[in-house]
Amino acid sequence: MDNVAAVILSAGKGTRMKSGVAKVLHPAAGRPLAAWPVDAARGAGAAPIVLVTGHQAEAVADYFRTAGDVRTAVQEEQLGTGHAVACSREALAGFNGTVLILCGDTPLLRPETLAALIRFHRSRQAAVTVLTAVMGNPDGYGRVVRDETGRLLRIVEQKDAAPEERAIREINSGIYCMESDFLFANIGSIGNANAQNEFYLTDLVALAVAKGVTCLAMPTGDADEIMGVNDRVQLAEAARLLRQRINRDLMLSGVTLIDPEQTYIDHGVTIAPDTVIHPNCHINGQTVIAGACIIEHGTSISDCRIGSGCHIKAGSVLEGADLGNDVSIGPMAHLRPGTVLADHVKIGNFVETKKAVMGAGSKASHLTYLGDTEIGSDVNIGCGTITCNYDGVSKHRTVIGDGVFIGSDVQLVAPVTVGRNSLVAAGTTVTIDVPPDSLAIARVPQVNKEGWRLKKKPY
Ligand code: UD1
Ligand code: CA
Repeated sequence: MDNVAAVILSAGKGTRMKSGVAKVLHPAAGRPLAAWPVDAARGAGAAPIVLVTGHQAEAVADYFRTAGDVRTAVQEEQLGTGHAVACSREALAGFNGTVLILCGDTPLLRPETLAALIRFHRSRQAAVTVLTAVMGNPDGYGRVVRDETGRLLRIVEQKDAAPEERAIREINSGIYCMESDFLFANIGSIGNANAQNEFYLTDLVALAVAKGVTCLAMPTGDADEIMGVNDRVQLAEAARLLRQRINRDLMLSGVTLIDPEQTYIDHGVTIAPDTVIHPNCHINGQTVIAGACIIEHGTSISDCRIGSGCHIKAGSVLEGADLGNDVSIGPMAHLRPGTVLADHVKIGNFVETKKAVMGAGSKASHLTYLGDTEIGSDVNIGCGTITCNYDGVSKHRTVIGDGVFIGSDVQLVAPVTVGRNSLVAAGTTVTIDVPPDSLAIARVPQVNKEGWRLKKKPY
């Protein structure tokens, strides 16, 4: 939509969070609370978007620094929502149009709802439109006072409300559309003679009514959407509802979630159809999972790219790894950043990889550490193999050519290279490069002393 700006109020401390972190930076489903209304405003076509910050203003500004359409305006002292909006005046200098006003702690608000609010507001040529909801329990919210014909008169805060006003169940969501000329011409004239000695943005409603300009209330059907997060109980509830939306969208797009209530997929993750996710998986960051994969229970995946037909078995942890197609991982494997696995690679139980590149069809099936390693295709890494990549000062690389067979319990003391098609015998500690097509064996020769046990006492 044209000529829409947004002001998002996020200066409050969030006292009830009992936290050293500003409320709007607490994450829900993978990103800070404030990122959700910013996205909703953007989705409704708002530009620019002004965040009014106060507590930890620097940290909040840092998070949004790379978003070109987000500006911040600092409210040094939190003197109320009206004062907060007044602080956005400079950031919106030169803007003339509709201003959406939102709160930074309402992550469930949808862009569609904002778009509907803007349409409602504009089609009726209102100066102010308040988004309202009818609540079973209106406790804590500002109440919407209408006259006997249903016309909006004012909004009264609970702390200032008379008993009959407290009985009103239609509440102010804290979300508004206002014409910039009316807003900035009048925001300076609201006072703070109220129970909290704050400058209430809501007083603009009575002011508009008194001036005879059009001031309306639009009730929303979904009260969940306007839910604000004030404490950690509400944070958990909001995160649960956000996850529910993410999971529902994934399922409708063709992804199977065995138990969506116990599947934790963050915003920003992409999963293609016919992938099956078992319970208690945590998938986050910029992860992309292709189709027809199986992700077994208790797996944690962050910032990974996973090709099609992969099977990630139970209890595996994957971080910053890049997998081709038909790769098999786990159970209980740990892929660390810089792991790059080509098609048909197999990583078995209790294998850890870090900055390990493996070519197509290579396998490390059991109990192995592969770090700072480049492995060709069709390589077999035997059980208990360790790349000794760290000498206490720096890291060194191990290079293993195509078709190599590494036997069980081999240590590769880096820097070292094993040439293509060679075989390293079980139990070998490799300290010098192995040429191609060779056998490397380094073992203490075995001695059998016959009858030795029989000479020992007592028997
Ligand atoms: C406000 C509304 C109330 C509405 C409710 C909906 C007013 C006076 N009341 O009450 O009618 O039902 O929201 O949730 O507006 N903030 C600032 N600077 C300030 C004060 C607040 O940036 O000086 C921000 C807060 O960080 C928060 C938002 O504004 O994001 C709302 O402030 P809050 O104090 O939570 O208002 P409520 O008492 O909930
Ligand atoms: Ca609030």
